[in-house]
Amino acid sequence: MEKKVALLPGDGIGVEVMNAAVKLMHHVAAKYDLTIETSESLMGGCSYDAHGTPLTDETIELCYSSDAVLLGAVGGYKWEDLEHHLKPEAALLKLRKSLGLFTNIRPAKVYPSFVNSSSLKESAIIGTDFVVFRELTGGIYFGEPRGYDENKGYNTMVYEKYEIERIAHQAFKVAQKRKKILTSVDKANVLEVSQFWRKVVEEVSKEYPDVELSNMYVDNTAMQVVRDPKQFDVIVTSNLFGDIISDIAGMITGSLGMLPSASLGDKYALYEPVHGSAPDIAGENKANPIAMIASVGMMFDLSFGLQEAAILIDKAIEKTLDHGYRTADINLDDGNVVTTDRMADMIIKNFDIIYNENRESVFTL
Ligand code: IPM
Ligand code: MN
Repeated sequence: MEKKVALLPGDGIGVEVMNAAVKLMHHVAAKYDLTIETSESLMGGCSYDAHGTPLTDETIELCYSSDAVLLGAVGGYKWEDLEHHLKPEAALLKLRKSLGLFTNIRPAKVYPSFVNSSSLKESAIIGTDFVVFRELTGGIYFGEPRGYDENKGYNTMVYEKYEIERIAHQAFKVAQKRKKILTSVDKANVLEVSQFWRKVVEEVSKEYPDVELSNMYVDNTAMQVVRDPKQFDVIVTSNLFGDIISDIAGMITGSLGMLPSASLGDKYALYEPVHGSAPDIAGENKANPIAMIASVGMMFDLSFGLQEAAILIDKAIEKTLDHGYRTADINLDDGNVVTTDRMADMIIKNFDIIYNENRESVFTL
C-alpha cells in the first residue's frame, strides 16, 4: 500500500514533535508494508514570514492531493500583533474550512502510570477514557454577521440542521462501538441555537436505539468532567463548547502534551496534537512528542485502516511511560527526564518489542 501524507510542521515545537513523529511513522509503516510518501509545506507564522500569508494556496493544494495531513502547531509571540486574518490561528481555521473537516475527535485517556501527573486526585481520574466529538467548521467560529466597531463587538452562533446531523451521526456510530452512551452538550436553557441542536440530536438518536443519549448543559459538563470524568464515554458538542471542554479534558490526563486529535470530513483528514507551539521552549529538544505520535496513531487507524498499528503505538507510549521516561512537562513524579528525540526513540523501541510479542502470540495460536 502507498499513501501520501502532507506534513505541516508549523511553528515553535511543531517542528520538533513533527520530526520525532515522522520517524516513528515511517518505522511503523514499514512493518505493515505501507510506503508513505511525504511532502512538506509551510503553515502559520513561518509561512507568513516567507510568503506574507499564514496559509498559501499551494499548501491547501498539497493537502487536497494527499491521503492525510499531519499538522504540528502554529503561532508564537512574534506574530501576535498581526491583523486578525494574517495570524497563524486564522490559517488553522481556514484550513479546517477548506478541507471540510467538520468532525474533530479528541480522546482523553488517563495512562495508569501517569495518574500522578494530573492535578486531580488519582481516585477521581483513574480509568478515565472518553472522547470528545467537537463540531469544527460551524457555530460561532464561522457565523455571520461578525465584527466590532467603537461601540460593539458581535459574533453569531448559528447551526444548520445538516451540520448538526452529520456530526451527531459520527458520534453515535462511535458510541455504538464503545459503551453505547452519548452525552450531547449544549446551553439549551439560554440559547435557541442549542435548543435546535438538542432537537436535531434527539431526532438522529432514533436511528441508534442501542445508544443511550443524555443532554447536559455546558457549564454543568465543565464541572462534571472535573468532578467525575469516568461517567463520560462519548461527548458530542458544538465548536466553541468543544474547544473549552477538550482543554479541560486535557488536564485530566496531566498535560496537553499528551493529547492527539483527528479532524475528519467527507474527503480529507488532518491529525494534530491538541497543544500549541510553545514558543518558550521551542528549539530546545524538550517538547513532549507524545500527542503528535498519538496523532500519527489515529492516522494509521482512521485514514489507513491499520487499527493494529494504532493500538500498538498506544501500548508503546504506555510502556515507555511505565518505564518512567518523562519529558519536562510531565515530570511530576521524579521520572527519567528525556529529550523529545529520546522519548520518540524509546517509543519506537517499545513499539518493536510489543510488535514482536504480538506477532509471536499470533504465531503460536
Ligand atoms: C484548538 C485551538 C484553536 C481553536 C485556535 C488556535 C484557533 O484552540 O484547536 O483547540 O480554537 O479551535
Ligand atoms: Mn482550543
